[in-house]
Amino acid sequence: MKTIDLNIQDAVYFAEKEYEALKDKSVEALTTLEEGTGAGNDFLGWLDLPSKTPEALVDRINATAQRLRENCDYVVCVGIGGSYLGAKAVNYALADSFADFYAPQPKEPKVLYAGQNIGEDYLAELQKLLTGKKFGIVVISKSGTTTEPAIAFRLLKNQLEQQAGKDAAKNLIVAITDEKKGALRTMANEEGYETYVIPDNVGGRFSVLTPVGLLPIACAGHDIKKLLAGAKDMENTTLHPSPENPAQIYARLRNALYQSGKKIEILVNFDPKLHYVSEWWKQLYGESEGKDGKGIFPASVDFTTDLHSMGQWIQDGERTIFETVISVKKPALTHRIPMNASDLDGINYIADKRIDEVNKMAELGTKMAHVDGGVPNIKIELPELDEYSLGQLIYFFEKACGISGYMLGVNPFNQPGVEAYKKNMFKLLNKPGY
Ligand code: PA5
Repeated sequence: MKTIDLNIQDAVYFAEKEYEALKDKSVEALTTLEEGTGAGNDFLGWLDLPSKTPEALVDRINATAQRLRENCDYVVCVGIGGSYLGAKAVNYALADSFADFYAPQPKEPKVLYAGQNIGEDYLAELQKLLTGKKFGIVVISKSGTTTEPAIAFRLLKNQLEQQAGKDAAKNLIVAITDEKKGALRTMANEEGYETYVIPDNVGGRFSVLTPVGLLPIACAGHDIKKLLAGAKDMENTTLHPSPENPAQIYARLRNALYQSGKKIEILVNFDPKLHYVSEWWKQLYGESEGKDGKGIFPASVDFTTDLHSMGQWIQDGERTIFETVISVKKPALTHRIPMNASDLDGINYIADKRIDEVNKMAELGTKMAHVDGGVPNIKIELPELDEYSLGQLIYFFEKACGISGYMLGVNPFNQPGVEAYKKNMFKLLNKPGY
């Protein structure tokens, strides 16, 4: 199987001293993580998910997905943060870019998302789209009490019960939540929905390889066995401290760059399908490391699109940034630039070339310019954009995040800061008890 490749040669010399000095610390951090002796060690269940997920669970997830695919034109995944971003990242990366503009086909429902915002128009327009349609709901909340998904689920459950009838609706709703506690667990038990458990020891942003991510990904028709196989290979690759361990190298390098004054990491892609991988990655690193007054600020751009908006800042702005570029080696399709007799647009010099050849030269040219401009450049190359590569990438980033957080000296597995806005909002809304 082809593996993803990490290349640090255009970044490491920007912080050579710091990188060298962090060698032992990176070994210590990885050992602490694997031995479960660090802060937040009750949230390490994600570490061996790829190798320990029972086949029977994967088969049940596929069977549930099949039932929804056979009976729905739309499956709405309701969740926020770690309860939706991983699935959206994978589904968006693997989908036809214009999938949403084609009508749903039998047994190929559209997967939609709700509960990730409190947009009144968004929810009203979603319900308008679903009026008279066959749809199902996968509602996901670890705590089972989060306001955004609770609002969306209440609306959609009412609509589904009205359209399909209460009994039929029960078979079209699946809840993924805590084994015992939370309002969603109580409701699911009372209503008799099929449920999946989010393990206690897996936090939201590390949960994409649990049913939280696997069911919505299977609902979109993707191969979750291949996703887990990619993750499992990366689990093995990153198990032990070694000069070749890519997660250890990435964690060590980003800490070295941070110490040398690079406070912002920009995740870059040259394939718009990776847009939501960046959104998932931002939550993973932002929530894990941004605490105690510390942490690299995770940002993202889609190139070449954003070279025409953010390119100036990256090339010439304050030198506090470094880039991590995700590059896809081989596009799935072949498409060439046509020759034109008049050549009025002046691009005949690239006629007959594959579009990806131009894209790769844009990538190389951008790297050269940015490195010249003082921006360290880390490159992660995926052989192809498929389930196996994405599984590797997900596990690689999760593992590196745990190591990196420990190297930074924070607990990468809590998120106390997320509660602050909720308390204020509840008080402003006169929620009892606030
Ligand atoms: O990573 C996290 O823990 C958070 O982003 C949660 O995933 C998010 O707040 C949703 O929480 P819940 O699944 O409890 O509804």
